[in-house]
Amino acid sequence: MSLTPHSSRSQIVTVTEVIDETDLAKSFVFDAEWDYRPGQFVTVRVPSERTGSVARSYSLYTSPFDGTKPGVTVKRTVDGYASNWLCDNITAGSELEVLPPSGVFVPESLDVPLLLLAAGSGITPVMSILAAALRTGTQPITLLYANADPAATIFRERIARLEVEHERLTVIWWMESERGIPDADMLAALLTPYHSRPTYLCGRDEFMAACKEAAKVIGTPRQLVHQEIYASLTGDAFADIVPHEVVIEDDAPEVTVHNLGATFTVPWPKDESLVDVLINNGHDVPYSCQSGECATCLCKLTKGTVEMAVTDGLDPDDAEDGYILGCQAKPTSPELEVEY
Ligand SMILES: Cc1cc2nc3c(=O)[nH]c(=O)nc-3n(C[C@H](O)[C@H](O)[C@H](O)COP(=O)(O)OP(=O)(O)OC[C@H]3O[C@@H](n4cnc5c(N)ncnc54)[C@H](O)[C@@H]3O)c2cc1C
Ligand code: FES
Repeated sequence: MSLTPHSSRSQIVTVTEVIDETDLAKSFVFDAEWDYRPGQFVTVRVPSERTGSVARSYSLYTSPFDGTKPGVTVKRTVDGYASNWLCDNITAGSELEVLPPSGVFVPESLDVPLLLLAAGSGITPVMSILAAALRTGTQPITLLYANADPAATIFRERIARLEVEHERLTVIWWMESERGIPDADMLAALLTPYHSRPTYLCGRDEFMAACKEAAKVIGTPRQLVHQEIYASLTGDAFADIVPHEVVIEDDAPEVTVHNLGATFTVPWPKDESLVDVLINNGHDVPYSCQSGECATCLCKLTKGTVEMAVTDGLDPDDAEDGYILGCQAKPTSPELEVEY
């Protein structure tokens, strides 16, 4: 049976291959031609008899520069719904409805020395960045990759092969079966030589907390540390923002937006989110989950103030630097300015 899209932004893709990566993780390769950037993710609509569907994001492990079809890697979550459904039900030839690649966990440059930190399934976006930087860059890359043991290590053979092929790649394999769970002190001791590198990290919460603490200890400038937070979306990411009539009060705040080289000013009614306002005004700005959980709508507030109901997807350090989630932001000052 052929699927039909539930949103103007979604696509139906065919899974061309399913790869058993470990006992708990499978990769799904899509027959899709996407213009994506290393580190981005897609959002999959998983059917449910209970709720109709759930939306879950999965990072692309592939590199856009390798000439291969894009794919995601899904690790079964204990008692998880969607990850187990995908691993149990999707085979080569299955169709899935997905929102195409989005996300901001993307290096500004792939041709600078990089520090990559991953644990478990957190390797997925990091693998994409690693493969892209090896293909297009020339600078040294260090990857620290923590796992329970070798059998649980996703892409173990592929990374080992890259390590042999590329002298500028250093891999620190961290097996918890031998060394225990890495804490901030252990990481700081290993990572000191890399304190000036842009750092990309992804993994379970405690691992990310330890990495961020270690980065602080070794003096990595905060702006160089980027993380991808895995969370299950709670909203309906597949719902479209429907153009609607808005009554603009005389005293409505105004926002000046700098986006893709263009600058424009629009009224921003107090009960509308920034994404709602801009899409409603016909401006193409990025968004995905619409529930404050994925950071695709990240932008920088350079003037004024906003309130946000949900900030789960917003790194507290980014928030301190003035970044906001456009899908949650509502104005609390008369004049505002944002940069995408
Ligand atoms: C940007 C981003 C990138 C990510 N990348 C990856 C990745 O590369 N690889 C990866 O493995 N994960 C990734 N994740 C995490 C992934 O999106 C999911 O959070 C993860 O797979 C767990 O989802 P789950 O449904 O299996 O588990 P849970 O979310 O823990 O499942 C339980 C939830 O499902 C609900 N539920 C249970 N049964 C049903 C039912 N029958 N119908 C409807 N709801 C039900 C429960 O109420 C509960 O809320 C990423 C997340 C984000 C935000
Ligand atoms: S669109 Fe996902 S956080 Fe705003």
